[in-house]
Amino acid sequence: MYTQDQLKQQVAAAAIDFILPKLSADTILGIGTGSTVDMFIDALAQHKGAFKAAASSSERSTLRLQQHGIEVLDLNQIQSMDWYIDGADEIDGQLNMTKGGGGALTREKIVASVAQHFLCIVDDSKVVQQLGAFPLPIEVIPMARQSVTRRLEQLGGTVKWRADFVTDNGNDIIDVHGLAITEPAQFESKINDIPGVVCCGLFALTGASVALVATQNGVTTMS
Ligand code: A5P
Repeated sequence: MYTQDQLKQQVAAAAIDFILPKLSADTILGIGTGSTVDMFIDALAQHKGAFKAAASSSERSTLRLQQHGIEVLDLNQIQSMDWYIDGADEIDGQLNMTKGGGGALTREKIVASVAQHFLCIVDDSKVVQQLGAFPLPIEVIPMARQSVTRRLEQLGGTVKWRADFVTDNGNDIIDVHGLAITEPAQFESKINDIPGVVCCGLFALTGASVALVATQNGVTTMS
């Protein structure tokens, strides 16, 4: 039996195999955030001569990339990228995702939006029939935390504030428990419309393009 960490290592290695043939001297890679991505960054470092630079979705990933000698560009310098690579907290069969367990959802969604394709890398514990078992993270402007909370409770969720956490953007995160998300894209739009919401952890209006999933029997592909 592989542990979850071993599965994360395996999917990180599979992501390297996936991305290497697509790299050129001009390539800028969008890089997500999380423990799986940390392993991907460490493996990518061995190929840093094969691409130009990275765009990063968090201070955490920026630091790790720079420690490996990989240049990190300001997103404002980048017009487009082919690939953004990131983990997820949940992913369903239509490649809708919940993200933001690590609190980096807003920058993740921004950097992903500049890329043509999203490569999601997960172990199979993240694959679900329906999103919602993992609490849905939402980044909010601090003064709107309670007003957004009331609106989310009207939508049927139980809301918990991550009181000891501040995002890279200086905002709060609330996690919404107890949701059965039957229509992820519509639900994402509904949450986006609540005043004070900076970003919703649903990635369904734009989901993943391809997912690599590490299982006990090898890495499989969903697309
Ligand atoms: C960070 O904010 C998240 O979106 C992560 O991408 C997600 O939580 C997956 O993280 P792990 O790879 O650590 O499970």
